[in-house]
Amino acid sequence: MLPIPDPLEDTDIDQAVLFGSICDDLVAKSYSVQRNALPHGLVKLLSERARYEDDLQYTPAGIGRAIDHQKNQTIRRTDIVWIGNEIFPDKKWNEWADKLKTALNRDLFLGLQYFESHYARYNEGDFYKRHLDAFKGAGNRRISVVLFLNALWKNTDAGELRLYVGTDHKEQILIAPEIGTLVVFLSDLIPHEVLPTNRTRYSIAGWYR
Ligand code: OGA
Ligand code: MN
Repeated sequence: MLPIPDPLEDTDIDQAVLFGSICDDLVAKSYSVQRNALPHGLVKLLSERARYEDDLQYTPAGIGRAIDHQKNQTIRRTDIVWIGNEIFPDKKWNEWADKLKTALNRDLFLGLQYFESHYARYNEGDFYKRHLDAFKGAGNRRISVVLFLNALWKNTDAGELRLYVGTDHKEQILIAPEIGTLVVFLSDLIPHEVLPTNRTRYSIAGWYR
């Protein structure tokens, strides 16, 4: 008899193959884009959780050490809430992130220790201009991950994540924030931005340190 699949563990893509592919991509080009990478059941719960605003208290995000709010708002306009480990889907997400960490450490010898992540809500018109998540040498954020949580995203909804890749970062990769799409990249190497969105847009952004 076939085992009954656990919707929170079951994926189209074998996780070992997925983690291998992410590691290969990071070595080859410093970023990786994976569609339907996580179990559908988990992604669905996370997307519901991100929208459960009775419980989640989104607050305006800052950048680095608090600089003045006015300036901040010209670079980054989005609301965030840090992810803990108490609520079920958050716990599952952290467990998944931990497995990816193990793979990254094994294949790339990165010595990653900590993982931190937040839900982000971009209301209509919100954006995050071109930036790096860490600065060479200084920052302790090594690897960034972004998971998108929006079903049926249309081109006219805009709000894409744009990566600047390749030699001199002249090549651009535009990624629609469609539910289940996962983006992983080197925090101090890949400049990126969130284009102004025409529709409320939810994501999780996380960092391995
Ligand atoms: C970030 C970031 C991208 C996104 O929070 O640093 O780049 O799509 N987020 O939420
Ligand atoms: Mn970023």
